[in-house]
Amino acid sequence: MCGIIGYLGKNEKKEILLDGLQELEYRGYDSAGIAIIENKKLKNFKAVGRLKNLREKTKDYLSEGFGVSIGHTRWATHGKPTELNAHPHMGAYSFVVHNGIIENYQELKKELQAQGVNFLSQTDTETIVHLFEKNHDMSNNTWQAFQTTLSKLEGAYATLLITEADEESIYFAKNGSPMLIGFDGEDIYFASSDTPIIGKATEVYYLEDGEFGYAKDGKIYLFDANGEKAFSTQALATDKAMAQKDGYRFFMEKEIYEQGQVMNDTMMGRVLDDKIDLEELDLNLFENITNIKICACGTSYHSALSASYLFERISKIPCQIEIASEFRYKEPLLREDTLFITISQSGETADTLEALKMAKRAGLKSLSICNVDNSSIVRESDASILTRAGIEKGVASTKAFATQTMVLWMLAIYVAQAKKTISSELLEQELQAMRETPKALIVNDKLHAKMTRLSKRYLHGHGFFFIGRDIFYPLALEGALKLKEISYLHAEGYPSGEMKHGPIALADAELFTIALMPKSLHYEKIKSNVEELCARDVTLLAISPEPFELADDYVQTTYNSHPMLEFFEMMVITQLLALEISVRLGNDVDMPRNLAKSVTVE
Ligand code: F6R
Repeated sequence: MCGIIGYLGKNEKKEILLDGLQELEYRGYDSAGIAIIENKKLKNFKAVGRLKNLREKTKDYLSEGFGVSIGHTRWATHGKPTELNAHPHMGAYSFVVHNGIIENYQELKKELQAQGVNFLSQTDTETIVHLFEKNHDMSNNTWQAFQTTLSKLEGAYATLLITEADEESIYFAKNGSPMLIGFDGEDIYFASSDTPIIGKATEVYYLEDGEFGYAKDGKIYLFDANGEKAFSTQALATDKAMAQKDGYRFFMEKEIYEQGQVMNDTMMGRVLDDKIDLEELDLNLFENITNIKICACGTSYHSALSASYLFERISKIPCQIEIASEFRYKEPLLREDTLFITISQSGETADTLEALKMAKRAGLKSLSICNVDNSSIVRESDASILTRAGIEKGVASTKAFATQTMVLWMLAIYVAQAKKTISSELLEQELQAMRETPKALIVNDKLHAKMTRLSKRYLHGHGFFFIGRDIFYPLALEGALKLKEISYLHAEGYPSGEMKHGPIALADAELFTIALMPKSLHYEKIKSNVEELCARDVTLLAISPEPFELADDYVQTTYNSHPMLEFFEMMVITQLLALEISVRLGNDVDMPRNLAKSVTVE
């Protein structure tokens, strides 16, 4: 998730921008840049990698006097993390930074290229600055040109634009991506979140979607679809650590709440009206492929396991799943008609990386699903799809799992489209369910309060069993993993139909069973499995749209005709349960003992 900073005023601008970008590092980035206009002088610096590279490049530069300035940390989505793709993007006399995705950029780019515009980068963002300059060349009016530009953009954005055609203003717009404006007398700041301006600004205004305008002479001129509007500021927080968590107690909690929003990013430009479009893939990748092998560790392995059901059911392609650390030493028989998919949040997991290298040595084509562009796994793969979850700080993975699962679901449909194994009716149903997913991920206060209340009953006992069938079995595994990682209580995920083949011997009142009982998939089957456990007196927490009278505790979910919507809703519930149990036990939620965020050792 990119970060944006902007400053209009008399103070030295380079340090304000670089310090601000430093505070946005937590959002994740792979390149950074700044642009400053003052005294008719325009300066622009960009660097790939850490901010220290940008600091090094700018060390001999200091801005002087009044000016306007913008900066950006980029998390690559369209195009590799190179200097040319880093923001600010440049036209002939203007610069722009942008967070979000312009969905119709290809259309706009084609139109501009047809008019002779030369593009330097592969990004969607560059279209904004060229479009602005085209409009300005026609109207000779910067404000009008900016408004016309916005009217052409589809998708999500927070954007800042500065131009030599109006050296005293910063133009801004927000639609779907975060941006706020900070005030300190006549100095004006823009940022993606509070932290970069804490200690600098004293008052803040959080822009709403659909708002846009410009900053000039120490004032903000704010507009929405109805015209110019009044706004009032509020006092800015003073605690930076708290501000990074956006008011949540833990990063993990923030990341659970963020899932609805990041899912929009994951789907943007990919879930179209009538198909799935994965522009990063070339259909050649699937040529002569007759089966799929997916290899991953931990949570990423669980998303792989749920995808195996989707690949076989929807894409009609055989799909095997491998735990990377096992795969490496089993002397696997690898065939060149297998597409080798790796899944990794960090892109650096040693076992997964080594498994990928083995598959490549055996001549297999490879595809990675990853959250970090330019990571080792992405670089090693023939193709990759980024999950666009933004940086995940909580060691226990939440939004990374959600977005991996969504990418795999999209991929299953994409393969089905290519193989023509999906009817147009089914395709329409799948696309519709995908569009509804962000809603299924919304955490409402009542639900969270209920999980907090319930958690006090689940702090002891001799173990937890999370059970489910079909895609809800991997979700049960993931629910159990979340709980053990941050509560240190023993938990297992199990296929509910397997309980009678052994684990049922453990059943007694001290065995906590969390049953995932979706209505849209095998409800009667799982119900019988759960009844068998209730007859042995387990303590049961049922998660289902359907009330279940044998349950000791019951969390009601929404009746949904699509299993994936039930999947995502239940996923949030299990995440909240783990979180609240961990909080009650007084554990370190974000940094649980013995665990690391990136496991680069075997
Ligand atoms: C659990 C968790 C781990 C990771 C595993 C693989 O919450 O985060 O189980 O999923 O270490 O890591 P990546 O996905 O980075 O390859």
